Amino acid sequence: MALPQLLLLGVAAVAAAAAPIYVQPPQASGARQAEAVRELLQRLLGARAASAFSITVDGSLAGPGTLDTYRLSSPETGPERVAVVGSSGVAAATGIYRYLRELCGCHVSWSGAQLRLPDPLPAVPGVISATSPNRFRYYQNVCTQSYSYVWWGWERWEREIDWMALHGINLALAFTGQEAIWQRVYLSLGLNQSEIDAYFTGPAFLAWNRMGNLHSWAGPLPLAWNLKQLYLQYRILERMRSLGMIPVLPAFAGHIPPGVLRVFPRLNATRLSSWSNFDCTYSCAYLLSPEDPMFQVIGTLFLKELTKEFGTDHIYSADTFNEMRPLSSEPAYLSGISTSIFRSMTGADPSAVCLMQGWLFQHQPDFWQPAQVRALLRGVPIGRMVVLDLFAESKPVYPWTESFYGQPFIWCMLHNFGGNHGLFGTVESINRGPFEARHFPNSTMMGVGLAPEGIEQNDMVYELMTELGWYQEPVDLQLWVTGYATQRYGSKNVQAAAAWQLLLRGVYNCSGICINHNRSPLVHRPSLHMNTELWYNRTEVYEAWRLLQEAAGELGTSSTFRYDLVDVTRQAMQQLVGDYYQEIKQAFQRRSLSDLLTAGGVLVYDLLPELDGLLSSDGRFLLGHWLKEARSVATSDREAELYDLNARNQLTLWGPNGNILDYANKQLGGLVLDYYGVRWSLFVSALVECLNAGTPFHQDQFNQAVFQVERGFIYNGKRYPPRPAGDTLDIIKKIFLKYYPSAMEQGLHEGNWGPLHP
Ligand SMILES: *[C@@H]1O[C@H](CO)[C@@H](O)[C@H](O)[C@H]1NC(C)=O
Ligand SMILES: *[C@@H]1O[C@H](CO)[C@@H](O)[C@H](O)[C@H]1NC(C)=O
Ligand SMILES: *[C@@H]1O[C@H](CO)[C@@H](O)[C@H](O)[C@H]1NC(C)=O
Ligand SMILES: *[C@@H]1O[C@H](CO)[C@@H](O)[C@H](O)[C@H]1NC(C)=O
Ligand SMILES: *[C@@H]1O[C@H](CO)[C@@H](O)[C@H](O)[C@H]1NC(C)=O
Repeated sequence: MALPQLLLLGVAAVAAAAAPIYVQPPQASGARQAEAVRELLQRLLGARAASAFSITVDGSLAGPGTLDTYRLSSPETGPERVAVVGSSGVAAATGIYRYLRELCGCHVSWSGAQLRLPDPLPAVPGVISATSPNRFRYYQNVCTQSYSYVWWGWERWEREIDWMALHGINLALAFTGQEAIWQRVYLSLGLNQSEIDAYFTGPAFLAWNRMGNLHSWAGPLPLAWNLKQLYLQYRILERMRSLGMIPVLPAFAGHIPPGVLRVFPRLNATRLSSWSNFDCTYSCAYLLSPEDPMFQVIGTLFLKELTKEFGTDHIYSADTFNEMRPLSSEPAYLSGISTSIFRSMTGADPSAVCLMQGWLFQHQPDFWQPAQVRALLRGVPIGRMVVLDLFAESKPVYPWTESFYGQPFIWCMLHNFGGNHGLFGTVESINRGPFEARHFPNSTMMGVGLAPEGIEQNDMVYELMTELGWYQEPVDLQLWVTGYATQRYGSKNVQAAAAWQLLLRGVYNCSGICINHNRSPLVHRPSLHMNTELWYNRTEVYEAWRLLQEAAGELGTSSTFRYDLVDVTRQAMQQLVGDYYQEIKQAFQRRSLSDLLTAGGVLVYDLLPELDGLLSSDGRFLLGHWLKEARSVATSDREAELYDLNARNQLTLWGPNGNILDYANKQLGGLVLDYYGVRWSLFVSALVECLNAGTPFHQDQFNQAVFQVERGFIYNGKRYPPRPAGDTLDIIKKIFLKYYPSAMEQGLHEGNWGPLHP
């Protein structure tokens, strides 16, 4: 069903009652939004080029149901070359980015921008206009806050919000600084500071503290942290709003620190069971009963304090059962929870709309049967909730829940787990999925979204998904990716285009169930049972590597090209690690010491050091950068140590004992050698010792030894350079000459690939 019809049905009926949010234009005036877009353009292109654009924001241009629209033309008279009218700041920015892409051949992404403008700027042929079929183009996952944004200051946020506007995002989480507000609320409830300190986690784990999954780990949270985040949130909100975006603020989901129970001993709260591989030292949150009046008191208190500080755009996010089994499957209990959350919101803001990640439904489908899903969703009046169908590209929930039982939803591509680096994509599914969802019987879809756990990887997939948010039907992917390569590198290049065709149809074309926890042995604790299966033809990555390597002569000065060349080389080397691992394992099983030493020697003494050197030569792949960012937030040495520990632990052990070991693995210069490399070295020597002594390999013993290595990395006290070193192109050439021939040979005679069957 089209959005206007949807509006006429459920949403508009309720909107008439109290929630005009879906049809309301942004709060900022048209003039303010136009000014914000002008400023964005100056940051992007410089004052001179920016002055060639005239920008107007006119809300009446919007399609029915506040559907964002832009119109581009070239004025007949006047100094400007391009006239842009948008129904919102975001719509105008999206129109400008389309002009930059399609008429100027430019590109803006996380890994960099390619902005070589033709001079003079090309005229717009006639009028170019578009209306997005999606009321909302959403962005963020609650986890992105921890995996990617945690150390960001304003400068990086500003760049991100610019990226969001250019890519059409008009609905996004704004979660920064909420602990500063909770701190006040807890104090006002009567908790003391040590009880609060014992509850918050360290910065790198706040995403899970906020959902009640985790407490205390890697904390306490310094008060200086809260203060800095509070100021940052002011700037983030001001910028998002001035561009016409709707920031989603956090709300109370029902979890409380134990201190609340000291103050109010008669509260009806129950401990949830532990989360993931944590025990109750760091998990097992207390959840308030929905019937307890304090549920509403605390929730409303928080939201009043929050909106007094920051104002509001009326959409609030709360996730109570993220990866946690509810205490009861009784529909009355479940609807009680969502009703209580919603009431605590409306207590502070009568127009509140509740936003929820739909991850839980597909994560524990045995629990979330239709009756349970329906109860949770229907605890809130129809139209006053927005559900994110978070992993819709692989496991959409709307088809088996009658489109979320009438609640509006957003079709989201999750794509990335833990901010891992591997090349990955489900291009066919994202190209089809949103359009199928819109045509589903009685569909309540009202937008598309990006919900990656971590960003700054696989730019192509996000570029595709954000563009699709403005189309009425799927694109021709092959044609699209050719244009993508040209814009990204700033020139048409035959080899680069051919490389992208190979990547598109292989590594980016996973279908069926393909959960992309990076499976490469490279980034996991070694054992004799590692999975090296791939969902694509690995030879095609080697082939793409060769083609890009050939294109380096012409494109080597382009920063976005260099990023991709490093990334594809990295992928090829990750595949090679899998091959050497297989050789090591087979040599061990054959009891061939010399083969074991050969394969192990190449892996440990050449391949991994070469990979580390490669990554260390590019500023976008540096452990030193991540750690420097963490330390630079600190206001004292003690804080710096705490943030350093947070930053290292998240990438590696994820918890005190490797609880979620290597989930957020990254391929970074420094980390590859000092963490993954040392671990592989220990594995190879352990196998060699076993062969020498004629004893079997004991994984348990190895795990104990390797845990010391893993912990050792976190506390090694080493400072990693935050700046790149070495000539990337030379390094790649050397690696290519050394490894490409045997890689091709391996790939061709192995051919062990096919769809994964987990
Ligand atoms: C906070 O309260 C707890 C429990 O009553 C108590 O043990 C602790 O000493 C108090 N801390 C401070 C700083 O008052
Ligand atoms: C506490 O809450 C639970 C769950 O909502 C409910 O079943 C129970 O009756 C409540 N207990 C009391 C004493 O109110
Ligand atoms: C769509 O909604 C109409 C009206 O409520 C209903 O009669 C029909 O059965 C629904 N169709 C499906 C496939 O759910
Ligand atoms: C993706 O793979 C499928 C086969 O699994 C194929 O039909 C399709 O054409 C491929 N898509 C692209 C863009 O190459
Ligand atoms: C994998 O790709 C290579 C290069 O395109 C091709 O020669 C080979 O036949 C493919 N292998 C399979 C099993 O399709």
